[in-house]
Amino acid sequence: MATRTQKDVQKRLDELREEVNHHLYRYHVLDEPEVSDAEYDRLYDELTSLEEEHPDLITPDSPTQRVGAPPSERFQKVEHLTPMGSLEKVTDDESLFKWAEDVRKRLDSDEPVAYVIEPKIDGLAVSLTYEDGLLTRGATRGDGIQGEDVTVNLKTIKAIPLRMQGDGPPAVLEVRGEVYLPLSGFRELNERIAELGQKLAPNPRNAAAGSLRQKDSSITASRPLSIWVYGLGAHEGLQLSSHWEELEWLREHGFRTNPFAERLESIEEVAKRCRDWERGRTELDYEIDGIVIKVDSLEQQAILGALHSRPRWARAFKWAPMTAQTKLLKIAIRVGRTGALNPWAMLEPVQVGGVTVSKATLHNEEDINRKDIREGDVVIIQRAGDVIPQIVGPAGPHAKGTKPFRMPKKCPLCGANIVKPKGEAMHRCPNRACPSRGLETLINWVQGPADIEGVGEQLMRRLWELELVRSLPDLYRLSKEQLLELDGFQEKSASNAIDAIEHSKRTPFSRVLLGLNIPDVGWVTAQNLARHFGSGDRLAQASQEEIQDVEGIGPERAEAIAEWFSDKDNLRLVEELKGLGLRFEAGPEERPVEGPLTGSTYVITGTLEGFSRDEARKGLEAKGARVADSVSKKTTGVIAGESPGSKLAKAEQLGVAVLDEAALKGLLRG
Ligand code: IVH
Repeated sequence: MATRTQKDVQKRLDELREEVNHHLYRYHVLDEPEVSDAEYDRLYDELTSLEEEHPDLITPDSPTQRVGAPPSERFQKVEHLTPMGSLEKVTDDESLFKWAEDVRKRLDSDEPVAYVIEPKIDGLAVSLTYEDGLLTRGATRGDGIQGEDVTVNLKTIKAIPLRMQGDGPPAVLEVRGEVYLPLSGFRELNERIAELGQKLAPNPRNAAAGSLRQKDSSITASRPLSIWVYGLGAHEGLQLSSHWEELEWLREHGFRTNPFAERLESIEEVAKRCRDWERGRTELDYEIDGIVIKVDSLEQQAILGALHSRPRWARAFKWAPMTAQTKLLKIAIRVGRTGALNPWAMLEPVQVGGVTVSKATLHNEEDINRKDIREGDVVIIQRAGDVIPQIVGPAGPHAKGTKPFRMPKKCPLCGANIVKPKGEAMHRCPNRACPSRGLETLINWVQGPADIEGVGEQLMRRLWELELVRSLPDLYRLSKEQLLELDGFQEKSASNAIDAIEHSKRTPFSRVLLGLNIPDVGWVTAQNLARHFGSGDRLAQASQEEIQDVEGIGPERAEAIAEWFSDKDNLRLVEELKGLGLRFEAGPEERPVEGPLTGSTYVITGTLEGFSRDEARKGLEAKGARVADSVSKKTTGVIAGESPGSKLAKAEQLGVAVLDEAALKGLLRG
């Protein structure tokens, strides 16, 4: 190959840098990549090798310069050109309207006031200084006057342009923004930390701060940090008249501005959007702790000024935090209706996101030990949306004398030896006569398949303890008089409960099948069985081979189902329920719905944050999709929540699409 002239090399370097920068921008700022990772890697590799051959031609804004600086001993203190202030907060409509009133009074004019609202990112404020368009310094906020110089680390964040886009850049410009770690990155980071047996990061903000203050920038580079840019500090020569124009200007010059920023004409609209966001915040892949509200006009901002470096033209509408620390008092065990041992955490009551929390779910022994939590520890708990709180991990070192958690060897209810079937994460009580199964079957029935209004877990527990209801038929024999003897029941409430129980006799056949607690019969199998056999009698008479003809049922499951229907006690139960008026005939509602998802099959695995699995299943079915229990080549997609099991691995192995919760929401929206 002919050696290239210096000019050719320079030309190729320029081309490669431009292309690599373009793709970094598409990927990290716009979130719209144009090329595959492999194609990007090819360009990047060519650029690094060419630079290795010509080290004299390396420029500070070359994309290869994002990592590579030697680890620094400590961070230099640097002074911001203009101070980085902070925000006064409002916590409700009343204080928000009071602020708006104050703004109006101070402006003392009839001119309307428009506002810009932006998510308040729970990360770490930084200031980026650009000189003639080149990033020359990046610093943390520090005390607002002086911060720490973390330039080398900030350069590893690919959403931060090393050189801003556009011609004629200002001589000096400070860009302000919030560096953050996406929730997905936070979870992955903690998984990696857990594998190394180190202390987990308590929340994404701490993890982002820790990542940015690494002495070795290659560690920062390995963390998927990103940035939302929200304003300007010192700037020279820009002709802008509103904050909204500032944001547009930043976007046009290659900076990542938050797409949820909105310009609103009235404080009433602002209040409404703040309420919307309190619910909507959990749909984002990053944590926000409020909404920032800014008076849009820069002229009005100047009139309003600041008090103790808190601008009078802005407020943070803050919500109660969604994470909290509390003591893990005990890890208790509940034996489910299938015999699975479900551990759960008893917590010292604590306020999280405005709700008192005293319980949290724990999935299984592995989950508890992976999270490294022990009875007696102070733990971090997190609430997302309206779902049951989760324990993130310990808040600090273990308390003295604590021991790692072990599942009991014997069932806490019946004393049978606990088993852990191979390949399963759950421990089980193998005793079919274990009392827990009876009570849990009842609780499951009233909350799940029959969904009886006003009859919930608490009532079922009381009825069980008083030995008034020990089986499903007992529930349908319960009288108003019996309920009236219980504390808290009056004529009306007792009548309502009895009516609701009576009404639940209309529960469709497939749901009745589900409520019977037949081994391995979930929602999907129950529906397929109902559709295939059409009645309880035909199902009860079916042979194992005939059951195996049903879609999705293999030999083992067919055997277990046939066995269940050959058991005398079970047949008596079916007869009794039938006699009491429950449905054992398939109705028209058991037929699948026609909809936009007709013809597709989904499998749900892991824990979803915003829905129960049942809700997700119902939502998909309402759109015409089929929801299956196991993954096959025919599966359209696997919806994977947190801690997905072997189904996810199977999907990956078969090349079946894997969807996250956001994609599920998209499907449900249609
Ligand atoms: S504007 C004068 N906009 O909130 C300060 N701040 O207490 C103007 N923050 O330290 C700040 N998202 O780290 C602004 N969209 C946003 C923000 C935001 C997060 C943080 C920032 C600042 C703190 C204010």
